[in-house]
Amino acid sequence: MKITPFGVEQWMNKWENHCEINLAETCVASLTIEQLLQICGKTQAMPGDLAAMKMTYGDITGSEPLRSAVAALFERRTAANVMITHGTIGANALIYQTLVSAGDKVVSITPSYQQHTAIPESIGAEVLRLPLRAEDGYLPDFDQLERLVGEDTVVITLTNPNNPTGAVIGRKGLERIAEIAGKSGAWVLCDEVYRGTEQQGDGPGMSMADLYHKGISTGSTSKAFSLAGLRLGWIVGPKTLMQAVEVHRDYNTISVGMIDDYFATMALENADSILERSRHITRENLALLDAWVTGQAAVDYVRPSGGTTALLQYDLDTPSYELCETLIRETGVMLTPGSVMDMEGTLRIGFANNTDDLRTGLLRLGEWFGKSGA
Ligand SMILES: Cc1ncc(COP(=O)(O)O)c(C=O)c1O
Repeated sequence: MKITPFGVEQWMNKWENHCEINLAETCVASLTIEQLLQICGKTQAMPGDLAAMKMTYGDITGSEPLRSAVAALFERRTAANVMITHGTIGANALIYQTLVSAGDKVVSITPSYQQHTAIPESIGAEVLRLPLRAEDGYLPDFDQLERLVGEDTVVITLTNPNNPTGAVIGRKGLERIAEIAGKSGAWVLCDEVYRGTEQQGDGPGMSMADLYHKGISTGSTSKAFSLAGLRLGWIVGPKTLMQAVEVHRDYNTISVGMIDDYFATMALENADSILERSRHITRENLALLDAWVTGQAAVDYVRPSGGTTALLQYDLDTPSYELCETLIRETGVMLTPGSVMDMEGTLRIGFANNTDDLRTGLLRLGEWFGKSGA
């Protein structure tokens, strides 16, 4: 099966280990196991728990405590609505495998994670893109969405909070998408891996899985929970969907690792504390980024309302890929070129990693843009 290469992942693989300051990172500053144990009060219990663990395949669709802890992130979903997967990347792939066939129509709100266009296209579906624009604050034009969605649309797909823009579609917007989908009976796959990083409020924002009977939420412990090393994700949706997904999942997952399940359960049972840490980091860091952008003559952006990344528009003639490689060589700072996300003329910056790195990285970038005469 042919598939378009994944632009962002290829960029990361090329440079991630060859930069001094990684401002391409999209996770909220990752936790060590020691920090996780301290937050969860499990430092004493963990060694014994692991020592006693018999290394079977574990519970095939995810342990009951884990699925209950995931369900607790939703208003109207229970453990029976949850399927555990290999990260959000595994969750998304399983949904397309389950729902999309050659000749189907998929409507994708872009920019987004490239899985949401490349996988359905590789299956042979027609993917219609609804482009988000800076002048609209990177929020969708719902009338245009309505025109793109038809009787033959199988899935509408989006990322909320958005990667790369950091825009957040609130409850009303999500309800509008559900209403449009409902008219044609389409599913809505909402990649919510950045849920819990909203700049407003003190809990995760609204989920599509709580709003629409054919709403699907995918997510993981990677971004807002700062535990990408667990490779632990989920699909939340109607029970009938879980049964259909399981048919495919049996062929490519069996189960996730028992150790990942153990630590993920611990983290999600302490979701409030971990998300509070994430809110603190993302809000403090975005304030730093915001002050920096305000002071730049050559750089502008739409201030994110959530997520961990922002798209910087820059006032130079250099293509973004070339510019990013020059910045790595001359400043040691790694950003992500907009061109690998079909957003030429922009640079994606990850602002949720280590605060000192962000501060130093911005200082170096500011000096470079100052010298570039822009
Ligand atoms: C929107 C989006 N979806 C999915 C993923 C994959 O995340 P995970 O680590 O949960 O597989 C990423 C990672 O960058 C992402 O940005």
